[in-house]
Amino acid sequence: MNEHDLISEVRSKVDIVDVIGSYLPLTQKGKNYFGVCPFHDDTNPSMSVSRDLQIYRCFSCGASGNVFNFVMNYEHIPFREALSLLAKRAGVEITGIHLQEKVNKNAPFYTIYELAHKFYQNNLSSVQGKEARAYLKNRSIDDSVIKEFGIGLALPERSRLVDLLKAKGYDLKTLNQIGLASEDHDTYIHRIMFPLHDLEGKVIGFSGRIYDDSKVNKYLNTKETPIFKKGQLIYHYAIAREEVRIKKQVIVMEGFMDVIRASTIGVKNTVALMGTAMTEEQAKLIARLSHDIVLCFDGDDAGRHATMVNGEHFVQMGIVPKVISLTDDDDPDTFILEKGKERFLGLFENAISFNDYKLKVLKEGVNLNSEEEVAQYINQVILEASQWEDEIRQEIVLKKLAKEFDMEYNTLEKRFVQLKEEQTQKKESLKTTKVIQPPKKRKDKYELAVLSILYYMLLSDKVVRKCEREGLFFPKEEERILASEISYYYKKYGIMNIADFYTYLGDKENLTQLLTEVIGQDLGDTVDEKEVDLLFKVVKEYNVNQEVVRLQKKIKEEIDPLEKAKIAERIRGLRMGS
Ligand code: CTP
Ligand code: MN
Repeated sequence: MNEHDLISEVRSKVDIVDVIGSYLPLTQKGKNYFGVCPFHDDTNPSMSVSRDLQIYRCFSCGASGNVFNFVMNYEHIPFREALSLLAKRAGVEITGIHLQEKVNKNAPFYTIYELAHKFYQNNLSSVQGKEARAYLKNRSIDDSVIKEFGIGLALPERSRLVDLLKAKGYDLKTLNQIGLASEDHDTYIHRIMFPLHDLEGKVIGFSGRIYDDSKVNKYLNTKETPIFKKGQLIYHYAIAREEVRIKKQVIVMEGFMDVIRASTIGVKNTVALMGTAMTEEQAKLIARLSHDIVLCFDGDDAGRHATMVNGEHFVQMGIVPKVISLTDDDDPDTFILEKGKERFLGLFENAISFNDYKLKVLKEGVNLNSEEEVAQYINQVILEASQWEDEIRQEIVLKKLAKEFDMEYNTLEKRFVQLKEEQTQKKESLKTTKVIQPPKKRKDKYELAVLSILYYMLLSDKVVRKCEREGLFFPKEEERILASEISYYYKKYGIMNIADFYTYLGDKENLTQLLTEVIGQDLGDTVDEKEVDLLFKVVKEYNVNQEVVRLQKKIKEEIDPLEKAKIAERIRGLRMGS
């Protein structure tokens, strides 16, 4: 089987509705299915998935394509990987076939990390690993957890890993580049090694923890390397992705020890940010797992700060997370160890919305004897409430506030309305100063005719041949290219399959977008020849008009009277239709 047939077989054996439906909820409306588009910030179901055509398109951001495009974009993986993923799903064997694959220049780095990972794991079970094993046991991390999380050990000697990898033919420069060596010795010495994985689950770095009383940095993490990008890293992501599909909720923690501990009591829909500020990219990745997000950070000041900042970040994205607030100096790890599974699970029943959490935090530390502080607090609460969408909640909070501080409801409401107006004005002025996109121009009949002809070309190669026979000229370059690609596709594969055609167009985004627009017209599935004739006439008329305009300009610039007359004659001819 050749490459094209194989790709087409994989594509046709999976149903795009099932595949996309396994990533996000879809609801059927008429013939099509709708869901919230994962490729831009949105809460409305603007993505439509067609079972007939086996394609998806987003009416809001314009994302479109077939099942391969979706998986590639969603999982951030190259075509080759999306193909093998879907082949597995379809039960199609794709080994043996030689696909043109871009050589991944980072491939050796992953291999080295696999070697290092195995090496560290072996160390931990060796005689020399006794002390480290005792430390882990003391922290209630047993053998099954060690295995599940791939925990290993860097021995106290200076260059054990470097020696091994050099013997295997890797040079020091590479090992330095990927963070496993520092100059001529190991980066990690005398530390318990926690492997860090990329979004697909490949080992790309380590976090090494001290296990004696030395006063050095508790954790040592891999530096930025070609494969380790801290801002994109989320601990436990690949595994959580599977679990979140079942539990429909994702729990965000601060440290990976928290995630490991939660896993021991069967809570595996967890990820950790590894103690850093959450980046835009990490926030989006988490939101992609689920919009039901629970923040479960440490009970100390740093944890409260992280809850406020990260919670606000999700709110800006249109997601109100839930919050579990631990107290004192508990973190999920110590909480589970000391208070047990049941009490930890109990916390979820008392999780509060981030909006409520914020109110709670605002109130903490307000000196009720200070009029100034109370006034400031009341103002802040009203400001918060004015940003919510839930009017009932707004009223409840204002009433509560009035009662609590023995104030007139009207006073509070007046302030509320005032703040609300200020916000609307701000939004309006933002709108006028920052024109994001010019309002969509309505298409004229010529543009519509071109789109319709392209549509009918996709339906029938008769229309393609008619184009060729009559030498129909498409006004815009993109349209010409798409038309010629359609024609080429028919010649090569005999019939048109829209979904496969997307694969054929590859990453030529201007073409796939035009294609999506063409399909979007929904002109049915039969070709009316009279209608096509008419459309051809419209496009030809447009071309004639364009030519006339061009000639009229020329005539103005021409000085030679004889030439002028010739052009005038030509214009007359065009107008008469010759
Ligand atoms: N961290 C780090 N370097 C440090 C301290 C913390 O990189 N010196 C990161 C780690 O990824 C850690 C996270 O921040 O997982 C949370 O820090 P912390 O709460 O101190 O870690 P714990 O999970 O409590 O670790 P342990 O229980 O082993 O002390
Ligand atoms: Mn801890």
